[in-house]
Amino acid sequence: MIVEDKPTNAKVMFDFLQASGFRVLVANSGESALEQLQLVSPDLILLDIMMPGIDGFETCRRLKEEKATRDIPVIFMTALSDVVDKVKGLTLGAVDYITKPFQPEDVLARINLHLKLCHLNQKLEQRAAELTATVEQLQQSQLRLVQSEKMSSLGQLVAGIAHEINNPAGFVKGNLIYAHKYMQDLIEHIHLYKNQASAAEIARHAAKIDLEYLLKDFPHILTSMHEGIERIGDISVSLRTFARADNAVKIPFNIHDGIDSTILILKHRLKASNIRPAIEVIRDYDNLPEVECFPGQLNQVFMNILANAIDALEESNISRSYQEIADHPNFIKIQTKLNQDENYILIMIKDNGLGIPDEIKSQIFDNLFTTKAVGKGTGLGLSITRQIIVEKHGGSIEVNSVLNEGTEFVITLPIIDLSNG
Ligand SMILES: Nc1ncnc2c1ncn2[C@@H]1O[C@H](COP(=O)(O)OP(=O)(O)O)[C@@H](O)[C@H]1O
Ligand SMILES: [Mg+2]
Repeated sequence: MIVEDKPTNAKVMFDFLQASGFRVLVANSGESALEQLQLVSPDLILLDIMMPGIDGFETCRRLKEEKATRDIPVIFMTALSDVVDKVKGLTLGAVDYITKPFQPEDVLARINLHLKLCHLNQKLEQRAAELTATVEQLQQSQLRLVQSEKMSSLGQLVAGIAHEINNPAGFVKGNLIYAHKYMQDLIEHIHLYKNQASAAEIARHAAKIDLEYLLKDFPHILTSMHEGIERIGDISVSLRTFARADNAVKIPFNIHDGIDSTILILKHRLKASNIRPAIEVIRDYDNLPEVECFPGQLNQVFMNILANAIDALEESNISRSYQEIADHPNFIKIQTKLNQDENYILIMIKDNGLGIPDEIKSQIFDNLFTTKAVGKGTGLGLSITRQIIVEKHGGSIEVNSVLNEGTEFVITLPIIDLSNG
């Protein structure tokens, strides 16, 4: 949208922008612009400063007050080379200014920059909203879990995930500010060439904005913003996979997605610490078809077994030094296998933790059986796990364990639902 009171000026800009492929609206005063903006939502506004009625500054101030128009980037058009006006515009929330008479390339470069930045921003906000929704969903499912198995540790998991998300979100936000600054500097620099400034002046400006460093750093910043957004996307997808609500009927589900999202959610417990290196997770996946199941319940199974494995590994570390652990590192190995003929799959989850003494092996699936301290263990994890695997899915679960060497859980699941579980 162009907001400009002088028809000839408006026409020059209108023709130029339309020829450049934009769809353009014109308002001939601040009032008219505010009125039109109740009905339309342009991607960007070019705003004249000196106008009869409310001037550009006041128009901008009002735009920034309204929720509906607050986020539309505003670029001031000014005939003044007055620095005070430019600064005033920027403090009112404008993203940029262009000076009359217009330099076509300059106008295009600025418009394209701000459209791009605006788009990035929107993407980030959308991700954040998705994330909030997912965290809410996770909190819901946490409620259900706490009710059904008093698994209070999920609170810690949610905190861990929030941390995983805040990191990339924070650096994308930070980098966005730099990107903006760099682009402003660059445009200013190009401007000097356009105005045929002296070599000395150009050199002085290059030094002032540290052009050499800027040119090196700018691409890195864009790449890392991209990575940050991707990373948030990955976490969001994993959370959604993990926290999905179970319906009344079984649905085809990629078991590996369930395992992977559970691992990601447990990542903060797998990371290296000052007492041990990271727990290594080894995945050996077969080519599996989708399995008819209640995905949320199976994710709960993976969570219970993997959390137990981490507990057992931590316990095995208690009497060992960092170096001893590094020499015989903690691992969890997850293997899947397809048994095509018999129409079932196998999932094996193995750790090299403390192992289970023979005399309690027969009890670990019992309701409320735990060897862990009060507040740490509930004794519900494996009993619920067995219920989900055997009763709800018509599968089986077995344990192989050697004391001080490790433990392996072997799960079988039919691919097609034959029961009415
Ligand atoms: N991977 C494992 N290694 C060693 N012991 C295990 C493992 N998984 C389960 N156990 C034993 O089985 C018990 C029951 O597990 P579970 O039903 O999940 O309850 P909880 O974890 O709350 O104790 C645990 O207390 C532990 O003694
Ligand atoms: Mg447990």
